[in-house]
This record gives sequence, structure tokens and C-alpha cells, in this order.
Amino acid sequence: MSLSQTTITSVKETIPLVGENAEKITTRMYEILFSKYPETKPLFENAQSDQHKKLAGAIAAFAGNIDNLGALSGAVEKMATTHVATNVLPIHYPMVGDSLITAMGDVLGDDLTEDHKKAWIEAYNFLGDILMKREQELYEQK
Ligand code: HEM
Repeated sequence: MSLSQTTITSVKETIPLVGENAEKITTRMYEILFSKYPETKPLFENAQSDQHKKLAGAIAAFAGNIDNLGALSGAVEKMATTHVATNVLPIHYPMVGDSLITAMGDVLGDDLTEDHKKAWIEAYNFLGDILMKREQELYEQK
């Protein structure tokens, strides 16, 4: 599977907006995640205090490199390793995806068009598939 040029263009259009609001989006995302999906809370029990910044940075880096995923391979390996250490499972991905996209809508308002949202959902699912695949391999090696 690969992302269409339309999706890539649409996600890239939002980079300045998402970049400027990355921390707000991340903070709102955790608010939604923990209230709507409280079962994810224990996974973050040992989270470091700079986790918000890490996720905000990952979102921005991902958007910036969406058409050059090779540049992200080191980051993917690090994320997958951390996720496996904290027992992140495939069932959690739709929960985080829903929370992230809702948070983007809440923070960015009308500046995030329906097309942007659709593109971000596709992009999130695309990266999620890459992460889940690598995480499954790492779980099997455990
Ligand atoms: C495409 C989706 C996702 C992205 C881009 C992402 C990104 C990241 C990044 C960049 C880190 C920090 C890694 C490090 O520096 O060691 C991280 C850690 C983490 N992520 Fe994700 N993640 C995603 C999905 C998920 C999901 C579905 C969950 C499950 C609720 C989750 C839970 C966690 C946890 C618990 C940590 C460790 C927090 C800590 O101890 O500091 N992530 N993630």
C-alpha cells in the first residue's frame, strides 16, 4: 500500500498549521484519549514528562517526510521499540487515531478542511500499519 499524491499534497498543506500547534494538538489528544479510552492510561504510567513533546515532534517529522519514508526508518525503529516495551497493541491504534484526528479538528477548527482530515486519517493508518508490522515482529522475538 502507498499513499496517493493527493493525500501527500493535502497532508503537506497542513504542515505549517500543525507545526505551530503541535503541542496543543498533542495535549488535546491525550485529554480525549484518556477520557474516551481510559484503558490506554496504564500504558503511559511510566511515561517521561517530555512525552508530549516527543509525540508532537513525531507528528511534525512524519508530516514533513510523508513522501520520503526512508528518512523516517530510524524513528520508526525507535517508536516500535518503545511501543513494544510499553505493551502497545494493534487494538490501541484506532483509539489513538480517533483521538488525534478529533484533537486536530478541535484545535485547528475550520482551518482543517474535510479533505485535510481525510488525508490525515489515511496517513495515520499508513504509518500505523508500518509500526504495527514492525511491532509484531518485535513481539515475536521476545
Ligand atoms: C502512528 C501512530 C503513533 C505514533 C506516530 C507514535 C509516536 C510515538 C513516539 C515518537 C514515541 C516516543 C518514542 C521514544 O522516543 O522512545 C512514542 C511512545 C509511546 N507511545 Fe506512541 N505513537 C503512535 C501510536 C501509539 C499508540 C496506538 C499507542 C497506544 C496507546 C501509543 C503509546 C505510546 C506509549 C505508551 C509510549 C511511551 C511513552 C513513554 O514512556 O514515554 N502510541 N510514540
